[in-house]
Amino acid sequence: MTVRFGVVGCGVIHGTHADALCSIEGAKLTAFTDVVPERAKAAAERYGALAASTLDEMLDHVDAVCVCVPSGSHSGIAVQAARAGKHVLSEKPIDVNMQAAWAMVQECERSGVKLGVVSQHRFAKDIRSLRDAAQAGALGPLVAGDCYNKWYRTQAYYDSGDWRGTWKLDGGGCLMNQGVHYVDMIQWIMGGVRSVQATVRTVAHERIEVEDMANALVEYRNGAIGVIQGSTATYPGLAERLEVHGKWGTAVIEADRFKVWDVDPAAAQAGFYGHGVLKQPAPNLAVVSAPSGATSSDPSAVWAEQHRLQIEDFTKAILDDRDPAITGRDALKPLEVILAIYESARQGGRRVELAADRFP
Ligand SMILES: NC(=O)c1ccc[n+]([C@@H]2O[C@H](COP(=O)([O-])OP(=O)(O)OC[C@H]3O[C@@H](n4cnc5c(N)ncnc54)[C@H](O)[C@@H]3O)[C@@H](O)[C@H]2O)c1
Repeated sequence: MTVRFGVVGCGVIHGTHADALCSIEGAKLTAFTDVVPERAKAAAERYGALAASTLDEMLDHVDAVCVCVPSGSHSGIAVQAARAGKHVLSEKPIDVNMQAAWAMVQECERSGVKLGVVSQHRFAKDIRSLRDAAQAGALGPLVAGDCYNKWYRTQAYYDSGDWRGTWKLDGGGCLMNQGVHYVDMIQWIMGGVRSVQATVRTVAHERIEVEDMANALVEYRNGAIGVIQGSTATYPGLAERLEVHGKWGTAVIEADRFKVWDVDPAAAQAGFYGHGVLKQPAPNLAVVSAPSGATSSDPSAVWAEQHRLQIEDFTKAILDDRDPAITGRDALKPLEVILAIYESARQGGRRVELAADRFP
C-alpha cells in the first residue's frame, strides 16, 4: 500500500519534506497547495505533482498532509485535514498556543487519524543514545540538564516573511521558533519539566514583537535543575549544546554529536559504562540508524536526513497502524515549557509550575 502525501505551504521548509517523500518506500508525493498559487505551481512542476488551488481540493487527492505553513496556522489546517480523514504530520512547533495545539490533538484522535509533529533532532543517533542512557541511569541519578541554543538571525531574516517575529503566527522568538528543537531534547532527555523562572528580552532586532534573548532556570520532574538559554542575537551563532550531568558523569552534545561522555570509572563497577571523552555510551542501546552521507560540516544535510527518518517513521506508522515516534501529545511538552517561560518572564521571573497531567 502507498500513502499519498500532500504538502501544505511551499516556503523554506517544503522542499525538505518533498525531497524526503520522494525517497521513502511506501510514500508518494501527490500534491501541493499554498495561499500563493504560484508557489504551489512551481513546487508541483519541480516534483511532478498536482498543484491544488485550495486545501479542500488537495484533500481529495491525498491520504496524509505535511503542514509546512507558519506556526500559528498549523492547527487550523490540521483540524480541517483530520475532519476529512487525512493523517497529519505538522512542522514544529505543534502550534503557538495550548488551546490550538490541544484542538489539533483532540480532532486527530476523534477522527482516528495519526498526528505527528516534526522534532527531527530526536532522530539524531547521539541524542537518542544519550536519552536512552540517561533514562537507563548510565550517568547515575540525573542532577542537572542544560540547553544552550545561542544562534544568530539577521534583521533581514525577520523581514523576509510578515509572519516572522509576530506573536500571532510565530508565537514567540528565539525559543518558540529556533529553540523549540533543543528545548524538546532537554525535556525529553531529563524526563519532563516541573517549573521555570525566566527573563526574556528583545535586545538586538527591530520590528519584531517577540524575544531574541531568553534565559530560564529550570527544575525537572526528577528534581534535577538546569538552564535553558536561547537567542537569535548572539553573533555569529554558536553550535546548539546540551549538557547533562548525573551523580557519576557528564554528557555533552554539540550540534547533535557527542563532545563528552565521561563517567566515573568507579561507577562502572556498578555495571555502568566506562570513562573517556567522545566514547559512545551504552553501545547495546537501540538507536535509530545514523544519518547516512551526512557530515558535521554540512548541518543542513544532517537535518534533512533526520527529517527523512521522521517522515519515514510517520509513513510506517500509517501503514502499520501504530503511533508515530513523535506524537501530537509529545509535542505539547516543549510548547508548554516555552509558554511557561514566557509567562514567568511576564510576571517578572516568578516561578511557574507546569501541571503534571494537564491533558487527559
Ligand atoms: N523543522 C525545522 O527544522 C524547520 C525549519 C524551518 C521551518 N520550520 C517550520 O515550518 C513552518 C514553515 O516555515 P517556513 O520557514 O517554510 O515558512 P515560509 O514563510 O517560508 O513558508 C510558508 C508558506 O506557507 C504558505 N501559507 C501561509 N498560510 C497558508 C495557508 N493557510 N494555507 C496554505 N499555505 C499557506 C505561505 O504562502 C508560504 O509559501 C513553520 O512552522 C516553521 O517553524 C521547521
